[in-house]
Amino acid sequence: MRRPPLSPKLAGLGTTIFAEMSALAVETGAINLGQGFPDEDGPVEVADAAIAAIRGGVNQYPPGPGIGELRIAIANHQARFWGMAVDPGTEVLVTAGATEAVAAAVLALCDPGDEIIAFEPTYDSYTAVAAMAGARLRPVTLTPPAYDANIDALEGLVTERTRLVLLNSPHNPTGKVFTVPELEAIARVCVDHDLIAVTDEVYEHLVFDGEHRPLATFPGMADRTLTISSAGKTFSFTGWKIGWVCGSEELVTAVRTAKQFITYVNGAPFQPAIAVGLGLGDDFYTQLAKTLQHKRDVLCDGLRTAGFDVFVPQGTYFATVDIRSVGGDDGLAFCRELPKRCGVVAIPSSVFYEDPATGRHLVRFAFCKRTEVLTEAAERLALLAR
Ligand SMILES: Cc1ncc(COP(=O)(O)O)c(C=O)c1O
Repeated sequence: MRRPPLSPKLAGLGTTIFAEMSALAVETGAINLGQGFPDEDGPVEVADAAIAAIRGGVNQYPPGPGIGELRIAIANHQARFWGMAVDPGTEVLVTAGATEAVAAAVLALCDPGDEIIAFEPTYDSYTAVAAMAGARLRPVTLTPPAYDANIDALEGLVTERTRLVLLNSPHNPTGKVFTVPELEAIARVCVDHDLIAVTDEVYEHLVFDGEHRPLATFPGMADRTLTISSAGKTFSFTGWKIGWVCGSEELVTAVRTAKQFITYVNGAPFQPAIAVGLGLGDDFYTQLAKTLQHKRDVLCDGLRTAGFDVFVPQGTYFATVDIRSVGGDDGLAFCRELPKRCGVVAIPSSVFYEDPATGRHLVRFAFCKRTEVLTEAAERLALLAR
């Protein structure tokens, strides 16, 4: 008998729920609060810089680590916002979004049988890329409403196979921003057990309550942390897929070794444009968070009026609700029905857990949309309360 086409190591990964839900939104004409992408373009000067680059002939393979101008802009950004000293020559790598940075890091650092500890719910690519590397994701569950990081549980999962702690803060889908004491404790576990940390900080500028602090800035972490971020969320150009990773030369070289055989390079004309974006003044960054905070509040008010128990996020694009307060308990069935019931699409949070039963009653809504779209969505969701 012929072998099935999909390798068993990818069995069960299937099509992402985002594809299914986005297709459902198109099919039903529903407002798509599923996938996290803005419905407005980012800064015009950044878009203009990309257009100028294309017109100016910046259309061939850029250098492997990314163009110098962007690597310098990334290093300056790390120093300006987080006080991190990063050498743009050896300690920065430009990637095809944060997703590739995480994938290349995991593929470069993990051997089959290795274990990666991450707080769940997890961004969905983590489990998939662990599987591609033959590694295993070991989750520590964050439980609403407080989503406190259980450090004893984290430390309890460390074995001789543990290779990485993969930390996402601000955290998708919960919207949690890890606190300084939590980050201190995570750093201590990494140092005590000689673990490498990979941090996904794509929402670093989208914080409304609390404070973002990169794990790499904690004692003992600078040389054992790969800090990942992306232009997608900060500049509202998610489709450009310009991301980056910063860390020690040794770690960044390892990631580059994997990246060069995945995409080799990416996004030539977008790289100088993102360098322009990273140089924008402080008011751009302040306004970005302020505008999004208002959108969060519009959506969360609407969700509460519709009868949901809402876990108000401290950052990111996303708010999570408990659907039991509106008489449901199966988020997947609920989300498949929601477009027909009231013309809105959301994502069942169960897909972000190792055991889907853990997040069965939770559903995630994105608020990175124009305020009038969120207001309309809130009106539609209010139908659930009638
Ligand atoms: C936690 C997290 N990491 C990475 C990404 C993707 O980043 P990029 O588009 O830069 O690959 C997302 C997008 O939703 C995300 O939520």
